[in-house]
Amino acid sequence: MISNKGQILAVDDLPANLKVISETLCNAGYAVSTARDGEMALKSLQHYQPDLILLDILMPGIDGFETCRRLKADRNTSHIPVIFLTALSDTVNKVKGLELGGVDYITKPFDQAELLARIKVHINLKKAQVQLIQESKLSMLGELVTRIAHEINNPITFIYTNINHAAQYHEELIHLLELYEAQFPTPSQEIKDWREEIDLSFLKQDYFQLLESMKLGTERIKSIVVSLRSFAKLDEAEWKLFDLHEGLTNTVMLLSYHLQRNYNRKAVKVVKNYEELPLVYCNPAQLNQVFMNLLMNAIEAIDEKYSNHEPEGEAMLEYPQIVISTAFEVVDRENLVCIHISDNGIGISETIQPQIFDQFFTTKSTGKGAGLGLAIAKQIITEKHEGTITYTSELGKGTKFMIAIPIDRKNQLGY
Ligand SMILES: Nc1ncnc2c1ncn2[C@@H]1O[C@H](COP(=O)(O)OP(=O)(O)OP(=O)(O)O)[C@@H](O)[C@H]1O
Ligand SMILES: [Mg+2]
Repeated sequence: MISNKGQILAVDDLPANLKVISETLCNAGYAVSTARDGEMALKSLQHYQPDLILLDILMPGIDGFETCRRLKADRNTSHIPVIFLTALSDTVNKVKGLELGGVDYITKPFDQAELLARIKVHINLKKAQVQLIQESKLSMLGELVTRIAHEINNPITFIYTNINHAAQYHEELIHLLELYEAQFPTPSQEIKDWREEIDLSFLKQDYFQLLESMKLGTERIKSIVVSLRSFAKLDEAEWKLFDLHEGLTNTVMLLSYHLQRNYNRKAVKVVKNYEELPLVYCNPAQLNQVFMNLLMNAIEAIDEKYSNHEPEGEAMLEYPQIVISTAFEVVDRENLVCIHISDNGIGISETIQPQIFDQFFTTKSTGKGAGLGLAIAKQIITEKHEGTITYTSELGKGTKFMIAIPIDRKNQLGY
């Protein structure tokens, strides 16, 4: 059962206690699951992430202290707040529980109102903490993008304009050389030798091509800077009518380094099946963040699939591919824009599927994934844009994320 108020795991070896706790919490609107001992609790945490754990201390097998120690040592469960709920009322045990990472300590028999009030405080605290982390992640990215765009923009404009001057000076010098050649057709031996040494006709042609490729390179950097600025939508109001294709294209452009061929795999092919879409009233910076998170996940899933293959192994015959499709649909008389992002990466195993949108859930190594990408994406799509985000996945074959955003509601309200 999913509850808006939150999900709580209650751990106690006495069925009578579990019954009272469950009734109290259910009546208050929480979804409750139970475990009869520490081992069972740790096992069930492998498959689901409650918002809070109520933990008895005196239990057969591993006691509550040890259970708490183990779940705080596991990065997948360490963030879940634990309240000790126990008959041990002496200060030594209370301090021990808090030192082990418990957020609170309630003695039995408990007062129902007090228990509920404390649970509410800790669930709200946790939510506020997560919100802060998400916001700081978003604003950190925004700041970084601003700095990079600014730092790169000036020097690259400098180079870009100077290349044109260099090309012009080159033409003028060559012309001067030609005039000399016409007026002094028989040069000295020294000039002849040097002309041969530098292969003058090659140099003339190559210098021109060299400038052309430098120009191409700087044009590319300039367009990356434009993408960066538009990605973070630095100069614009938060909510506006926005061309989603522009957002998708810019995001793909920013990821081009990650899409390139690497030691294990070919370059990731990005197929764009774009239908004509109306402009969407939305928060472009937030939607770009969603596209970025989904596309990064797709690339990481592809990388994981190919990480164990030899460069010229059989898997190299298959193209790593990301398909981005967009469509305008009318469902139940509601106008929706749909964005589908599918990859042929590693896929998601059925056992972890229920958890992928959970905050801090990650299968990536420490330092690589914070487990926030999908949680942020879900919040932005469902809460901020009143849309939906779902997915289908097959292990070893790939994953497809589907976003649908209603386009009239916000427009009528806010524009
Ligand atoms: N396209 C995908 N293919 C396979 N697995 C995926 C895909 N997208 C997400 N996952 C799984 O869902 C987990 C959670 O994804 P999420 O984006 O929330 O966090 P993360 O990528 O691990 O870390 P972060 O995005 O914060 O850097 C991933 O660790 C991965 O196991
Ligand atoms: Mg991610």
